[in-house]
Amino acid sequence: MSPAAPLDLTDPAVVADPYPAFAAARATAAVQWHEGLGLWLAFTHAAANAVLRDRRLGRIWSDKEPAERFEAFNLIHRNAILEMEPPDHTRLRRLISTAFARGHVERLRPWVQALADRLVDGMVERSAGTAPVDLFTGMAGQLPVAVIAELLGVPEADRPLLRPWSNAIVKMYEYGRTPQIEDGAERAAAEFVGYLRGLVAERRTRLGEDLISHLVTVRDSQGDRLTEDELVTTCILLLDAGHEATVNVTGNGLLALLEHPDQLARLRAAPDLLPTAVEELMRFDSPLQLFERTATEDVAIGGVTVERGQKIAALLGSANRDPAVFAGADTLDVGRTENPHISFGAGVHFCIGAPLARVELQASFGALLRRTSALELGGPAVRRPEFVIRGLQELPLVLTG
Ligand code: HEM
Repeated sequence: MSPAAPLDLTDPAVVADPYPAFAAARATAAVQWHEGLGLWLAFTHAAANAVLRDRRLGRIWSDKEPAERFEAFNLIHRNAILEMEPPDHTRLRRLISTAFARGHVERLRPWVQALADRLVDGMVERSAGTAPVDLFTGMAGQLPVAVIAELLGVPEADRPLLRPWSNAIVKMYEYGRTPQIEDGAERAAAEFVGYLRGLVAERRTRLGEDLISHLVTVRDSQGDRLTEDELVTTCILLLDAGHEATVNVTGNGLLALLEHPDQLARLRAAPDLLPTAVEELMRFDSPLQLFERTATEDVAIGGVTVERGQKIAALLGSANRDPAVFAGADTLDVGRTENPHISFGAGVHFCIGAPLARVELQASFGALLRRTSALELGGPAVRRPEFVIRGLQELPLVLTG
């Protein structure tokens, strides 16, 4: 085995800025064994990309958490597309993709832009060029959850329930979790499942134009192709996956722009760079840093052999800064055209929501630039203490209209 990776994913310095440690690791070996975590870590773009694409490296849930404590948590993973492999994955992916392709995303574009404009205008009004206003309470914490709730058809009055449930559940994906985190995640999962079973039953009596109604129709007309548990789990996954990362790209991306005023000014002067800028912000500081796979047979990858049953994780943020693939990998370039970042993953699990996330991010950054004449940091940014889901919890801004 290669030397142990000297990387502590719970070290606050690494959480604050993992990129120097990634660079040092990449220069040592593409794939390294991490004794503490008991898994392989893939640092280079080639190796991380291969981890995500190799069909012998699977995502298989098989009730990882003890059944008596984690009934609901296991249920919403056992039935999740993200945790399945073909043929179940193919079946579920086709159903969900059809729903997304039915014009749901494009139907939302003007609505998303209007919401982003309204939220930024509210922040500008409250800040008035002097008072600091937090990006997350003002916009980034609201828009992605409102969008996915609208798409699914979650009634407006129930939407404040969603973020706390989602936040509690995704804390389980981090290293160094506590019994409180575990209890909170199971409680949130049970409440979320109960809530969605109720909503699905209601939709069944009164179908609408929303995604839940569409999935209910699929379930009822082709029952053997989508179980009730898969339906409920899919809604939960879309609600969780559908906003956590988008919130964090907005925060990480805006902080990166504020720390690179030349790039912020360049984007202001040339708004047609918005699509490439969004991709670059996702590359530069990826909101999801790590995804695990388990080897179903021995697999040679990046110069090592991952033995059957062993785990290997793709480090997306490290891959996205690999100088073998990106010229000036540590430089933020909002006009970067060659940008094969893997922040949306790769292979069969490639993010279903990527088109929606792009609509949201272009709307948010577009509104922040068009509806302000000046945008400045209004105090220190506060980082979330977790590594896997990389983001901020506060970003104070001073906005001038
Ligand atoms: C910037 C925002 C987003 C990022 C960075 C992101 C990233 C990812 C990544 C890396 C994966 C693959 C995970 C793996 O291979 O193990 C993934 C899968 C997925 N994402 Fe996203 N995502 C984003 C937004 C969204 C949105 C808005 C939705 C829903 C509307 C969504 C729904 C999903 C689903 C359902 C999967 C599972 C696909 C499958 O297993 O086949 N994501 N996402």
